[in-house]
Amino acid sequence: MCFFANSGAEANEAAIKLARKATGRTKIITFLQSFHGRTFAGMAATGQEKIKQGFGSMLETFIHLPFNDLEALKTELDSDTAAVMVEIVQGEGGIHVVSTEFIKEAAKLCAENGVLLIIDEIQTGIGRTGKPFAFQHFGIEPDIITVAKGLGNGLPIGAAIGKAELAQFFGPGTHGSTFGGNPISTAAAIAVMDIIFNDEFLKEASDKSRLLFELLHKELCCLEVVKEIRGLGLMAGIELTVAAQPILAEMRKSGLIALPAGEKVVRLLPPLNVTAEEIEKAVSLLKGTLIKSKITAL
Ligand SMILES: Cc1ncc(COP(=O)(O)O)c(C=O)c1O
Repeated sequence: MCFFANSGAEANEAAIKLARKATGRTKIITFLQSFHGRTFAGMAATGQEKIKQGFGSMLETFIHLPFNDLEALKTELDSDTAAVMVEIVQGEGGIHVVSTEFIKEAAKLCAENGVLLIIDEIQTGIGRTGKPFAFQHFGIEPDIITVAKGLGNGLPIGAAIGKAELAQFFGPGTHGSTFGGNPISTAAAIAVMDIIFNDEFLKEASDKSRLLFELLHKELCCLEVVKEIRGLGLMAGIELTVAAQPILAEMRKSGLIALPAGEKVVRLLPPLNVTAEEIEKAVSLLKGTLIKSKITAL
């Protein structure tokens, strides 16, 4: 069942409220470097200090654990825990991919302890990783997923999608939104899903991902400034040994627009219909910028 909102942050608000109401518990475990939006609960759920600076004390509901740390999760998860909320690839936090062992065990621990598993698919969902949702790479079954961004392809929409048995806790008057589920945004979302939730389209996105990572490894691996290349699907992070921002400014001059993820990571999130030629050009522009920035190849 689906609750429609207007943005990712609102989708997460819905998921957080739903998890607390359905379980009658208050604690929500999230992870360091995570990003869950800029509303008050979204900000408090986020595991990055810089997002919270200047806004005073945060909500006690959220506990932030090191990402992929199973022992920490086992220690923290208890009878007061309503949910574990996690990104499959931490997007804003630096393109860190969840480990298979961690997410599988986390799903098991949640199921055994009556804790809801919320996967924030706001950046990773809607085909971004070559599957409709990124959790599908891991054979797990979350209780709630949140989506936004690509779902509207430019129009404002977000959604918290939960197992049907959770819907009873969100009856009329419990939670709502004036514009959530409006006909224009939902029509856009249906059109998006018609195109993207299609095996051929997703296979092409996966093929493009393979090409992107092959080229990134081949062209950038020997540059001293490149520390690590990581990601999933069409979500790539190039961790540098220097700040990403000046490099991104130079890249923009040469015609390649990208955002940072964390302080030192160049994040590439090309459109899912990117062409092979565009990928080749992007990697070449990135390499040229890194070299031009007086960074010497080994
Ligand atoms: C993982 C994740 N969650 C939540 C959000 C917040 O989404 P919105 O900006 O639509 O509120 C974002 C946005 O970057 C995100 O990447």
